Amino acid sequence: MGKVSINQSVYGTTPEGDQVDLYTLKNAHGMQVDVITFGGIITKLTVSNTDGKFENVVLGYDNLESYLSNPTYFGAIIGRFGNRISKGKFSLNGTDYPLAINNGPNHLHGGIKGFDKVIWNAEPIETNDKVALKLSYLSEDMEEGYPGNLNVTVTYTLRADNTLEVAYQATTDKATVVNLTQHSYFNLSGDFTKTVTDEEVMINADFYVPTDETAIPLGTLESVTNTPFDFRTPKRVGQDINAEHSQIANGSGYDHTWVLNHPAKQVNLVASVLDKDSGRYMEVFTDQPGVQFYTGNFLDSALPYGDGAHYADRTGLCLETQHYPDSPNQEDFPSTVLNPGDIYKTETHFKFSVK
Ligand code: BGC
Repeated sequence: MGKVSINQSVYGTTPEGDQVDLYTLKNAHGMQVDVITFGGIITKLTVSNTDGKFENVVLGYDNLESYLSNPTYFGAIIGRFGNRISKGKFSLNGTDYPLAINNGPNHLHGGIKGFDKVIWNAEPIETNDKVALKLSYLSEDMEEGYPGNLNVTVTYTLRADNTLEVAYQATTDKATVVNLTQHSYFNLSGDFTKTVTDEEVMINADFYVPTDETAIPLGTLESVTNTPFDFRTPKRVGQDINAEHSQIANGSGYDHTWVLNHPAKQVNLVASVLDKDSGRYMEVFTDQPGVQFYTGNFLDSALPYGDGAHYADRTGLCLETQHYPDSPNQEDFPSTVLNPGDIYKTETHFKFSVK
């Protein structure tokens, strides 16, 4: 058995002259998670295959410059609001809040300088059999147009059982909206020249959220039965990804929120991914009402990575646990409002094993 450790090193310096650190978390079984303080980005997540071969299974870059623009949000913490807000506006308690329009006609992933582009304070924590990195950030009142001083912490804990826990907490001094998530792109094969279409995915959801052609929810929930969106029993990602279906056309593949079949506020198994060749298996547990399953349909917009290589479409998949998109404008969706005195508290676990 190896030793549990967390190490800090300097990763780079931003154009503004701020230092960005890299923290490397390791557990006793050799699983390793690399996190930088810029965007709280997971740059690498290294796990074993059935033969004991350790490989990185998340898409990323090897330099800070690429993460400074990171158009695909590889590995980042997303906030204040994951996914889209229609036309970049919402009202809360009678006040209208205009936001940046940064994705077609809509607002995406918290705006121009979201939580993926800020420097987080980092506090390493080491206990007997696990290591954690507690990241914190104060998002000031009206940053990116959102009301309230929002105090946020995101804690990554690497447990002895090869689980990466992501625990989010936030408080505000004015009513606001919050929807945080983690934007890692997984490719369990560890070979990023391969697409994820042969990986097998399960999503425990009887319904999904259909969208318009700009990816804004129509406001209804649709049954997955007899549609390409039925992942209740594990299915190859590629099986129906090119099916003739207006929702598949809208997302250029899967880029939708699934309505999770589980009691709110309880951490349950909601999704899994299996790469049969390597045997790597990932289970996702969360207390959130939804998961955005995105099959990397727009990865040709990612930046090149080393030696002239370039990520191709569908070489990574995201399982972004969160609330439904555009919730601030959708009365029938679970609320994303956070009031002063209340605590936003949610967690998601990514558990790795081999099959
Ligand atoms: C969205 C995609 C988007 C990707 C990168 C995902 O959360 O659903 O539409 O392309 O993030 O921005």
